[in-house]
Amino acid sequence: MQPTDSSTGPEGDLQAFAELVRSRRTHLLMDPAAEVPSDLVTALCELISWAPNHKRTWPWQVAVFTGEGRRRLGEAGAADLTTHGIGDEAKAIKTRTKYVRAPVVLAVGSAAHQDPLFQAENRDAVAAGVQNLLLGAAATGLASFWSTAPVARGEATRELCGFSPGTEIVAVIYLGWPTGTVAAPERPAVPIRFVTD
Ligand SMILES: Cc1cc2nc3c(=O)[nH]c(=O)nc-3n(C[C@H](O)[C@H](O)[C@H](O)COP(=O)(O)O)c2cc1C
Repeated sequence: MQPTDSSTGPEGDLQAFAELVRSRRTHLLMDPAAEVPSDLVTALCELISWAPNHKRTWPWQVAVFTGEGRRRLGEAGAADLTTHGIGDEAKAIKTRTKYVRAPVVLAVGSAAHQDPLFQAENRDAVAAGVQNLLLGAAATGLASFWSTAPVARGEATRELCGFSPGTEIVAVIYLGWPTGTVAAPERPAVPIRFVTD
């Protein structure tokens, strides 16, 4: 039998991919003044559409915020918090300015669907698309941070993003060139059951 070399063939391919997957971290150690080329942002956004998508509903919608646009996103988020009676004044103040911590911020929405099952599957597809984007960012050396929108169905944010009515914001993603690194959180083993007969 030939000796196997784990650095080549399927195992080597998997190893390289696994290293990329494990290297992606959620952190905000990024330079807010270091520009990320818009072509690169566009290319990363296009990775979203390569996610699996049941019934091919193409539910993703993306809005990209740079410059003063980041403040407008914060203002909209703060307005949504007030409208929905969420949080206190301190949270609203933080929300107004927090997006300037990165040079680029993306809002990624999932289109509404009349059928609750499709609605849920749309969101699953968008989440898978977001991971594609995050892995693409990691591959290019960009730092990223997936955050929850202040209000997932906030009208002020939805209108600013230009998303269709009922769209749910699945992720607000900070993107930028890293200024540092953070340790990977410990991961418990995935519970896996093999059922063979
Ligand atoms: C749907 C979703 C929402 C998240 N929202 C936040 C958030 O609002 N704030 C935050 O600190 N991290 C948020 N995260 C990132 C997680 O905290 C992070 O993935 C986790 O700590 C594991 O770290 P890692 O991504 O570096 O492996 C979110 C992740 C997901 C999948």
